[in-house]
Amino acid sequence: MKLFPVQGSTIAGQFDLLLLVLVLFSILSIAGIGGALIYFAIRYRAGSGANRKLKSPDNYKLELAWTLIPTVLVLALFAWSAKIFYDYFRVPDTAHEILVTGKQWMWKIQHPNGRREINELHIPANTPIKLTMTSEDVIHSFFIPEFRVKKDVLPGVYSTLWFEANQTTGAQPHNLFCAEYCGLNHSIMTGKVHVLEPADYERWLKEGNVESQTMASSGERLFNAMGCVVCHRDEPGARGPSLNGLFGTEVTLASGETVVADDDYIRESIVNPQAKIVQGYTPLMPTFKNSLSQEDIFQLVTYIRGLAETPAPTAEAEADGAADTEQVEG
Ligand code: CUA
Repeated sequence: MKLFPVQGSTIAGQFDLLLLVLVLFSILSIAGIGGALIYFAIRYRAGSGANRKLKSPDNYKLELAWTLIPTVLVLALFAWSAKIFYDYFRVPDTAHEILVTGKQWMWKIQHPNGRREINELHIPANTPIKLTMTSEDVIHSFFIPEFRVKKDVLPGVYSTLWFEANQTTGAQPHNLFCAEYCGLNHSIMTGKVHVLEPADYERWLKEGNVESQTMASSGERLFNAMGCVVCHRDEPGARGPSLNGLFGTEVTLASGETVVADDDYIRESIVNPQAKIVQGYTPLMPTFKNSLSQEDIFQLVTYIRGLAETPAPTAEAEADGAADTEQVEG
């Protein structure tokens, strides 16, 4: 039996080495402190003949040494862990994005080209992968021990997790677990992770049960079908703010606050539109909370992100739009 699973990702070896050093450091500290404690307890026990009169002269060198050496060691451990922590949380811009939805009691996965799978995750090797994750019900936690990565999956918000697999899995796929007790069948909320050669992954994406639409084009279809396009027209007088060029920019709200238009902002504006009203607009928009699934919402987010490439409308156009919204009733 092996103590640790395979080191399947680029960060796994770093985590393991840090853990090993921390354990050794703890053992040495316990041995040094505990050893001295036991030695002194025996030597100076009641009734022992040890000399209790000896008064050692002050020894600054010794005191400096036992202060400075542990301080430097602990700071070095902090810097090393902080480096790994930073690498673990900073998602590379080039990462390939996959949507993960947790649901009692399964993992639903969707790839950018629209291909779906359940309780299986196919990824290319040697490629940074970014998982954008959310839950349809309670808190779950996405855990791949072979990659040494784990992140909570929460309802109502996106969490992200990234990793880079360093080897293909072949006939021995990695395990995927839910690591947060989420109800009766939590223990069966497991899956398999298949790491393929990048070319095989491309082939896999195209074969099988392929949706003819990418996530972004499904989002565009929803944008029209749900009537979003009626109010969010990119022209003066529209009832809702234009979404062209929105993603990643700062939005001024009616309260005067500003927020960055990221995934979570767009998501919230779809399910709870009254939470953040854009300055100059009336709160007319109904919630789409009950008419869209988590996949639908993320497809819309993906589509709206893509609109960022179109130049933003001018400030005058938005001001005109604001003046006209007063007369319109939704
Ligand atoms: Cu999902 Cu435990």
